[in-house]
Amino acid sequence: MDHFDYVNGAMHVEQVPMAAIADAVGTPVYIYSTATLTRHVGVFRDALSRLADPLIAFAVKANPNGAVLATLAKLGLGADVVSGGELMRAIAAGIPANRIVFSGVGKTAEEMRLALEHGIFQFNLESEPEAEMLSDVALSMGRKAPVAYRINPDVDAGTHAKISTGKSENKFGIPYDRALVSYAAARDLPGLDVQGVAVHIGSQLTDLTPLEAAFVKVGALIEQLRGDGHDIRTADLGGGLGVPYDPSLPIPPLPAAYGEMVTRVTDGWNVRLMFEPGRVIVGNAGALLSRVVRVKQGAQAPFVIVDAAMNDLMRPSLYDAWHDIRAIHPVGQRATANVVGPVCETGDTFAMHRDMDVVQAGDLVAFMTAGAYGATMAGTYNSRPLTPEVLVSDDKWAVVRARPPIEALIEGDSIPDWVRG
Ligand code: LLP
Repeated sequence: MDHFDYVNGAMHVEQVPMAAIADAVGTPVYIYSTATLTRHVGVFRDALSRLADPLIAFAVKANPNGAVLATLAKLGLGADVVSGGELMRAIAAGIPANRIVFSGVGKTAEEMRLALEHGIFQFNLESEPEAEMLSDVALSMGRKAPVAYRINPDVDAGTHAKISTGKSENKFGIPYDRALVSYAAARDLPGLDVQGVAVHIGSQLTDLTPLEAAFVKVGALIEQLRGDGHDIRTADLGGGLGVPYDPSLPIPPLPAAYGEMVTRVTDGWNVRLMFEPGRVIVGNAGALLSRVVRVKQGAQAPFVIVDAAMNDLMRPSLYDAWHDIRAIHPVGQRATANVVGPVCETGDTFAMHRDMDVVQAGDLVAFMTAGAYGATMAGTYNSRPLTPEVLVSDDKWAVVRARPPIEALIEGDSIPDWVRG
């Protein structure tokens, strides 16, 4: 459920008309709802209420805006970070270091040092060379790094290939069958304190079965590791729960069903459970608001050309992702249309042959469910400035990232004298 609703024929976010934001900030612009964020945190937390002290570490990559992170920090969430930059943004937004976990296959020595200085809760290691490097870095600082190994359970998550992470051919984690060997080696590294096991098999999962299969493997491994004398205190079950994008498809399992499955499968594990939800917290809490530039005739259906493009919302061109497209002031008629951006690539297409509200030049449209992996994946391709972001709460709203002027792009380049001539 979200807080983007029609009031007197105009889409509002909470109590703010979307059109008022477009008038003030221009388009395209990302708009986030505090009430929706708050609701999703509550629903996720309720789903895990039968677990003792779970650590819910928001996957910062899904939406790293400082105001969003600060909202989640106030609600008590931790952070799952994958770079020094994400670590700094999480800390700047008020997320305590003892609720931060660091994932990713390519952590550098510098990033490890930064995380150790801040005293994060856990490093999720993804390879033996990484374990050796972290041990060396920690020793050089007179510390011990708290670690888990991310295991690759070789489970097919049944999602888009580009966001599947738990198959043996993927770059993530250590092979399940080698885990006991890797853990034994890690125990001998003097800069590490081996405390847990981690897993994450993919994103936008619409079926709990592969998740359950992966968690069962984690449970079996914990038992074997304890048998080998390891003191396993944490299990990080990752993120991945899908959200509804296309209202004509069955809705993905609700957090309550996920929580019930987790509670059942992890019964008796005797660890602190950790979670890294991203999309399920922020996905439906954001929309990308855009204006129709013009409508052009097409061979089969009209092309609705909007002022948002693939650089603002990459998901459709990257993963053929489906985002609902709604008129802010629907006229009550629907028709088939293609929705495209102005970028000079055929891939700059948001929807083909879409049955949608009829719109014309100057109308506003919203790309729904754009709060996760939206603004954060934006770029400046075609020299389009980064998309601004707005956060709404009740009847209040604020620009939480301004649209940079085009001068910022121009001045960001420097032209050496020998080029100028
Ligand atoms: N933990 C780890 C280690 C991850 O790699 C990810 C996402 C998450 C947690 C959060 O997953 P979530 O709960 O959001 O599904 N850009 C793609 C999604 C990439 C996901 C990458 N990893 C998209 O727009 O669909």
